[in-house]
Amino acid sequence: MPKPGTPKGASISADERFRLVVEAAPNAMVLIDQGGLISMVNAATERLFGYQRAELLGQPVEMLVPESHRGHHAGLREGFFRNAQSSRPMGAGRDLFARHKDGSQIPVEIGLNPIQTDKGLMVLSAIVDISDRAQKLQRLNETLQARTQELEAVNHELEAFAYSVSHDLRAPLRSMDGFSLALLEDYSDRLDDTGKDYLTRIRRGAVRMAQLIDDLLKLSRVTRAGIAPQPTDLSALAQEVVTELRQLDPRRQVAVSIAPHLQAIADPHLIRVVLDNLLGNAWKFTNRRADAAIGFRAGSIDNRPGFQVFDNGVGFDMAYAHKLFAPFQRLHTASEFEGTGIGLATVARIIRRHGGEIRIDSMPNGGTTISFTLQARESTDV
Ligand SMILES: Nc1ncnc2c1ncn2[C@@H]1O[C@H](COP(=O)(O)OP(=O)(O)OP(=O)(O)O)[C@@H](O)[C@H]1O
Ligand SMILES: [Mg+2]
Repeated sequence: MPKPGTPKGASISADERFRLVVEAAPNAMVLIDQGGLISMVNAATERLFGYQRAELLGQPVEMLVPESHRGHHAGLREGFFRNAQSSRPMGAGRDLFARHKDGSQIPVEIGLNPIQTDKGLMVLSAIVDISDRAQKLQRLNETLQARTQELEAVNHELEAFAYSVSHDLRAPLRSMDGFSLALLEDYSDRLDDTGKDYLTRIRRGAVRMAQLIDDLLKLSRVTRAGIAPQPTDLSALAQEVVTELRQLDPRRQVAVSIAPHLQAIADPHLIRVVLDNLLGNAWKFTNRRADAAIGFRAGSIDNRPGFQVFDNGVGFDMAYAHKLFAPFQRLHTASEFEGTGIGLATVARIIRRHGGEIRIDSMPNGGTTISFTLQARESTDV
């Protein structure tokens, strides 16, 4: 074989030029004939596999394939020769390994190129060592796993903390509430109107705080409860929620449209909480309209199928939308619309626990649409 340093100007044949190019390639290149025998290798092949050229030439290419894959390699190779029309990567997305002379395995990517020669059809394989990439990827994966575990632990602690704080706050609050009531009832003849007014305000504060604590407890229960996904009829659940809303507020005229038979694999109890909150919001924030209309229908986020709860109510400025999934964030005052601001935080947690996503679209006086999916991205992208 001619060496790479062939003198300039010397005329070389096409065959020799091909050999020179292959020899100079930075990646291992192995030419095999129809019988699967190695007919040419380059210097990079010697370096990658640890063999001398003479040990490889004329040998079956399977000597470079790990023992565990040798069995079916011959069949695949023959298949490629039979259908060889164009170049393609080997392995169709599988992790590929080559076998070093010392028996170790090298992660590789292989490109297969059919070539017509005067000795018939041959295949030139270009083999790229991806050990570095594979190692980096593994290190990244390990770091990611460690971080995820840390985050889960921190999250768990925070949830336990929120639960115990809100739980323990109840007892002192109950005594504040009880004693302020006693003061108001038993000592009212010794208090003037201003004093009574102050006490009444203290009591109102206590009631409000009790409500906040209850809501916090509800939120942490949602996160702590296990999730049991099963085939669930979301339309039926939405219908139940609306029936209850109508019973609680029979005077309101609201046009409700619920698309029938919308199904998902989800935890029915938790999804009921989601629909309670979203339809509850739609119901509440349309209460100024005589032609209030709310509903539940199929929707999507980034082409992934999901669901939507929509209304034609007061809406809000989207500039503040990102805040709404945090507890106690509200864009309307309690005097306008009652509530503590825990609903959407609860909904977002439930959706996230299902591996889904949630998105809000709203406009002041233009109504609100909340879309959600219930499946992780990976499992839907087939
Ligand atoms: N459908 C909607 N239309 C208009 N504003 C909404 C709608 N849904 C949510 N919002 C805005 O987002 C805020 C947070 O909603 P969220 O459900 O968390 O709390 P809330 O309904 O105020 O109280 P809670 O649900 O705890 O009773 C609301 O206060 C409101 O400002
Ligand atoms: Mg709400």
